[in-house]
Formats: sequence, structure tokens, C-alpha cells
Amino acid sequence: MRDQAEKLRSLAKSVKKTSQVYPNKLTKFTRVITVTSGKGGVGKTNFTVNLGLALTRLNKKVIVLDADLGLANVDVILGIMPQTNLGEVIKGKRELVEVITEGPGGLKIIAGGSGVQELANLENWQIERFISSLSQLDGNVDIILIDTGAGLTKNVLSFVLAADEIVVVTTPEPTAFTDAYAIIKVIAAKNERAKINLVVNRAQNILEGEQTAKKLVTVSKHFLKFELNNLGVIIDDQNVSSAVKKQKPFLLFYPNTIASRCINEIALTLTGLENQNKPSQGVQGFFSKIVKLLR
Ligand SMILES: Nc1ncnc2c1ncn2[C@@H]1O[C@H](COP(=O)(O)OP(=O)(O)O)[C@@H](O)[C@H]1O
Ligand SMILES: [Mg+2]
Repeated sequence: MRDQAEKLRSLAKSVKKTSQVYPNKLTKFTRVITVTSGKGGVGKTNFTVNLGLALTRLNKKVIVLDADLGLANVDVILGIMPQTNLGEVIKGKRELVEVITEGPGGLKIIAGGSGVQELANLENWQIERFISSLSQLDGNVDIILIDTGAGLTKNVLSFVLAADEIVVVTTPEPTAFTDAYAIIKVIAAKNERAKINLVVNRAQNILEGEQTAKKLVTVSKHFLKFELNNLGVIIDDQNVSSAVKKQKPFLLFYPNTIASRCINEIALTLTGLENQNKPSQGVQGFFSKIVKLLR
């Protein structure tokens, strides 16, 4: 952990130096992707964590940010115990690199803690300090995956509207489907250019998953004039629940199970969208937007 922090610190220093010499030539922005759903319990956290692992295997540097304030359980699924959280960076008590926990499979995790709620009540100088600390990530991290809660609270909506890309997870069940449509409707009304990707989880087979996705794509196009991107289907797989009970991510514990194969495919599709969905704001831009949205 200490070694890791040292490495990140020196990386951050070297990036700072480069951007001082070439102030307009920041190498590359981090892609910020927020995962959400209308209904709870559809598999967001499992999807986020295992997608993070699959992307790490594709040589992407990924951080998973657990921003589900009520039911934060990225750590439970990974069987880790982060000792710190983003709130401590926001309060100026810790450096950003110090709250990054090393998870299995090279995945990095940041626990949100109560940090996000605190963002709404900070003085301007505190916000500036926090935003400037985030410069350590841009250029060093390829993708930040954010796991949120379900439903449209102000916090969740802020993470959704500030992100470069959004993933809405649903299952084929009519309740989940209807709630997914409701959340898509709100996002589309607030930002007609939002990039919403759809994932149908727990499908009995590919056909059922594809049919669910097609229905949502069609109703969104027809009633909202909004184009959804169908990112992929994940099959219902009892090894998912079995891995959760063992507190091991299924992608590592059951690498060849059907759910792992589906996640690997989605990870490939997502990296394929890299050129099409170039991030334009970076992590600093993302959090600046969040602060505005929360106020
Ligand atoms: N593809 C799947 N196949 C079988 N069970 C799944 C699958 N995805 C999720 N689950 C089950 O759903 C439960 C809830 O998943 P979780 O990721 O915690 O949902 P959320 O974060 O949306 O509340 C998991 O503990 C697991 O038992
Ligand atoms: Mg969850």
C-alpha cells in the first residue's frame, strides 16, 4: 500500500511537471462513467466492480469510486476494507493518493464515504483545494467507474449529469424496465446530449436480454426522441451470487462462467467506444460540475 502510494505520488509529480512546461498539452483526460439504475438490486455494484476488473485486464488503469452513500458495498463484494474515504480529501485531511485502496486484480478503489454530501457545504477555497488535488488523476487513470445508488436522488443525479458517459443497468423484469425508462426520461430531459448506455443484467438468455434492450431503445427513441446505446447483455448466473457470498469478484473467482464472459465482451465494446466518446473535461471538470449541481 505504501509502495503504491509512493509510486502514484511520483507519477503525479511528473505529470505536474509536464503540464507546467506544456500548460495546454495535458496528455489525456480520464473517462468518467457513472453506473446507475431506476430500481435497486439489479446488479449495479457487481457490474461496476467486475467491469473494472475486465478493463484492468485490457491494460486500462481503472479506479472504481463507490458513490452509493446509503448502501456502499463495493468493498463488501471485493472483500476489502478501505480505511479512508474521499471525505477526508475533501476536508483536506488526506492526499488523494492516500485514499486509493488497492483491490484484487490490480483494481483501485476509492470509497466515497460521506464526502459527496460535504461537497455541497464547502467554502469556495475548500472546493478549489479539492478540485486541484484531482489533477493527480488526469493523465494517470484511463477510466473512473462510479457506482451509485438507485433512483433519482439529488446526489445520484449529480453524478449522472456530470459524467462523460452513463450506464443504466436494468433486468428484463417489468418493474426494473419501467424504472429504467423513468430514469432515462429524466436524464434525457436535463441533457439531450447525454451518452446513455444500456446494460440488461440477469437475462435468462441472450434473446431475452436483446429483446429487453430493443424495447427500451425503441420507446426512448419514439417517446423521448432519445438515442440509447445498447452496451450488452449479462446472463443470469448462479455463480454471481456464489461469488458474492465468498466476497470474491466473479470475474476472478469464476473467470469462465457465463457472466464473466458477458462482462469481458462489454469491456471490449466499451474500450471500442474510446475514440467515439473522447472525454472533454477530465476529473477536475467532472467534480466542478458536481459541485454546481449539488448547490
Ligand atoms: N448476472 C447475475 N446473475 C445472477 N445473480 C445476479 C447477477 N447480477 C446480480 N445478481 C444478484 O443480485 C444481487 C444484487 O446485486 P448488486 O450488484 O448488489 O445490485 P445493486 O448494486 O444494483 O443493488 C447480487 O448479490 C447477486 O446475488
Ligand atoms: Mg449497489
